[in-house]
Amino acid sequence: MSVKIKVNGTVHDIDGDPSMPLLYALRDNIGLRGAKFGCGLGQCGACTVHVDGRAVFSCITPIAALNGRAVTTTEGLLEDGKPNKVQQAFIDEQAAQCGYCIAGMVMRAQHLLNQNPDPSDEEILTGMQPNLCRCGTHAAILRAVKRAARA
Ligand code: FES
Ligand code: FES
Repeated sequence: MSVKIKVNGTVHDIDGDPSMPLLYALRDNIGLRGAKFGCGLGQCGACTVHVDGRAVFSCITPIAALNGRAVTTTEGLLEDGKPNKVQQAFIDEQAAQCGYCIAGMVMRAQHLLNQNPDPSDEEILTGMQPNLCRCGTHAAILRAVKRAARA
């Protein structure tokens, strides 16, 4: 079966089992490697992307649920090939250690700031909570979100 999904503005025909997770389609079929496989269970956020503007765990989102819906990945946030303000804030704060969680963190932060452009510290903490960093760089990540909000 083939499922059409629109990713970063381009429509792709994905041939495969409709229950295939969006994360596999992004990485293996389309070649976008920003979103990462962490837990595969919707518990870590490494795979976070946007679907119709909402942050979702792509590891537990079947492609069958996406016909006609718009997916955005961290690659889709680039502006003229350069980091957007959220991505730049993560770079400026050197928020990554190993970097494995960062694409998901950026997508979570972008979602948070789209909903609430001027979040309080408490709102940033709550908004970023679904995403985990096993390197423990949470303090730098929270600084990056604050920096992006000020930018
Ligand atoms: S890999 Fe998707 S939530 Fe962990
Ligand atoms: S920087 Fe390593 S998991 Fe977050």
